[in-house]
Amino acid sequence: MIIKTKTAITAVLVLLASAGFAAGNPEAGATIGYSCLGCHGIEGYRNAYPSYRVPKLGGQSATYLVIALKGYREGMREHPTMLAQAASLTDQQIEDVAAYLASLGSDALAAERAAAPSVQQTATCIACHGQNGIALSPTWPTLAGQHEDYLVHALNQYRDGTRKDSVMGPMAAPLTDDDVKLLAKYYSRLDGLQTTKAD
Ligand code: HEC
Ligand code: HEC
Repeated sequence: MIIKTKTAITAVLVLLASAGFAAGNPEAGATIGYSCLGCHGIEGYRNAYPSYRVPKLGGQSATYLVIALKGYREGMREHPTMLAQAASLTDQQIEDVAAYLASLGSDALAAERAAAPSVQQTATCIACHGQNGIALSPTWPTLAGQHEDYLVHALNQYRDGTRKDSVMGPMAAPLTDDDVKLLAKYYSRLDGLQTTKAD
């Protein structure tokens, strides 16, 4: 039993590592991260000149935070304070602080992220149904805001051929049940279509 659980945990860790998650240690990053909160942890805190709000980091993807910090350190991004901050950090410290800051996100954000389809899953749909689910031609339907269960139903009809369309048939054919669920959830949550009300 214990051995089984261990194997499962190892499998999950291997999956996470292969998915390109940063290999930082959030506990180790907390000490460094604490000094960052002097600016990033104050609601609405502003950069002095030019004046704009210091970016939010809590819940940002750890992988992106590593890229951003190395960007300052290596001169791809210019900002004197952030250069000073990043220049003193080793690669491992950057991984750690990124893991710490990423862990400060809300559960709601983590859930949204887990529910979002991957780039590969929406890439083909975007060509016609648009980046935000709003169709790019009047002959294609807008999906944004459509009822989730209706979208599942429509996609399944294209998959099993009860709804015949030479464009959508081949689009829907390779989708799995999980793809359909994820895509329907994603498009239904975007701002768009509304229920028409009789006045
Ligand atoms: C003195 C204030 C200050 C401190 C301290 C500070 N930052 Fe920043 N940070 C900023 C400002 C201002 C920016 C926006 C810079 C720009 O315009 O590129 C920024 C940008 C960033 C970004 C880029 C965010 C994005 O969305 O691209 C990251 C990542 C970051 N900081 C991490 C850290 C970390 C990690 C620490 C602690 C080691 C830290 N910062 C300490 C002020 C600060
Ligand atoms: C080449 C353009 C094109 C691409 C790419 C495409 N669609 Fe479509 N889609 C259409 C057209 C045209 C229709 C209307 C077909 C019909 O009349 O049944 C449609 C209809 C739909 C419908 C039914 C909407 C409704 O209101 O009944 C759904 C759901 C849908 N597409 C989802 C997707 C998803 C998800 C993808 C990506 C996997 C995708 N489509 C890719 C063109 C496209």
